[in-house]
Amino acid sequence: MQVQNYINGRWVAARKGHTFESLNPATGEVLAEVAKSTTDDVQDAVAAAKAAYPKWRALPAPKRGEILFRIGELLVQRKEELSRLVTTEMGKVLAEGRGDVQEAIDMTYYMAAEGRRSFGQTVPSELPNKFAMSIRDSVGVVAAITPWNFPVAIPSWKITAALIMGNTVVFKPASDTPALAAAFVRIFEEAGLPAGVLNLITGPGGEVGNALVDHDDVKVISFTGSTEAGVAVTKRGADKLKRISLELGGKNAVIVMDDADLDLAVEGIVWSAFGTSGQRCTAASRVIVHRAVRQQLADKLVARINKLRLGDGLLATTDVGPVINSKQLDRIHSYMARAKKDGNEILTGGEPYKGQGAGGGFFYSPTLIGSVKRNDVVAQEEIFGPVTAMIEVGSLDEAIEVNNDTAFGLSSSIYTANVNNAFKAMRDVTTGILYVNAGTIGAEVHLPFGGTRGTGNGHREGGQTVLDTFSEWKTLYIDYSGKLQRAQIDEI
Ligand code: UN1
Repeated sequence: MQVQNYINGRWVAARKGHTFESLNPATGEVLAEVAKSTTDDVQDAVAAAKAAYPKWRALPAPKRGEILFRIGELLVQRKEELSRLVTTEMGKVLAEGRGDVQEAIDMTYYMAAEGRRSFGQTVPSELPNKFAMSIRDSVGVVAAITPWNFPVAIPSWKITAALIMGNTVVFKPASDTPALAAAFVRIFEEAGLPAGVLNLITGPGGEVGNALVDHDDVKVISFTGSTEAGVAVTKRGADKLKRISLELGGKNAVIVMDDADLDLAVEGIVWSAFGTSGQRCTAASRVIVHRAVRQQLADKLVARINKLRLGDGLLATTDVGPVINSKQLDRIHSYMARAKKDGNEILTGGEPYKGQGAGGGFFYSPTLIGSVKRNDVVAQEEIFGPVTAMIEVGSLDEAIEVNNDTAFGLSSSIYTANVNNAFKAMRDVTTGILYVNAGTIGAEVHLPFGGTRGTGNGHREGGQTVLDTFSEWKTLYIDYSGKLQRAQIDEI
């Protein structure tokens, strides 16, 4: 398979003609040969987006919405094909590949409908014969820089929201999932999106990402990835006062109280910690458990984890797919030595998986680490793999304190049968998302998505909140009194 850039409505090779490879993580085989772009290609893509902007901005938002509805319909038609490609290029099991595409469908329809909403406010003026309201306007060219773990859903969060607001986009996907990015963009093309409104550019985050952030004509950068990269983007963009929306790491916890339904908690933990092989920003990488049920929960978890079947995500028998690449596999494994150094106990897993079905792929055994103290390495750093760390506490207050005591603040969960505990957690847990009696994953597109502390910089994707990233508020005062009226000064 060949993956090219999509610039101004045409599929083109990188100017220098260089390419790189995208692999199937379940087999290690080459899936696609991909355009390796450089700064020149970025210039072309941004120029195309800039040229297309005035006309796209002028198109009435409901008309922009009609194109998005067509994109949604095409995504529905292609769901199976795209989902299989998600599994083949990214590795998550097919059911989750379908979920990834479904999330993009949901987001596309949600934003399509925004074309007929985009509410502003009309409020009374303090002066007579004066009208006051606020409306949203577009910002300009947007750079959407996306990760590999939700290769369809996350681009949809950024691109559809940017487009409905009247912006044009340069899309730079992760280098591990470029074929998916191209398949996604092809749908926009088929739906009749005008040339230049959405441009795709593949290549290394260093050169291509930096060139986008540096470019004077790129007004907004929406970035999802590592905290380290997010800080670097912020620094690069600071001198030019770029608007930067960041979705970064997580160190999400499931709190299990002594009154919880343990079997339900086990299901939630296994799904949240090992779904997508733990490669979600929202993955449960900590379990904070009340002392009274720790042993029981650990035993149930180990038994359940040991039943998980690893393999190619296309097979119906597979529960957990591979991790994204060999570098990530090594990184995940490096945490085991660090855990042992902190005196933690590997209760199950802790090794790359080479058993049945592993082939040439990159597999890691689902891992539960016990005897973890709140400040140990595996309780603090984002591992981004199928690894979760169990921390024992003696009370709800302590559980909440441990939950809040990390550099990140994306998603948390509490299992409890006590309504008072649930409400206390809702009040005092300081993450952007909290689930009660459900795991840490499963965010829905029409609610705000994002987190506190090192997870981001205060922006939220999803919901109505995402519109703020991609629009500029404009406040309008219309004085029809026919005379000078001075706000804050004239007495009426
Ligand atoms: C992510 O991991 O970056 O709630 C996104 C969830 C998904 C989105 C996760 N709907 O886990």
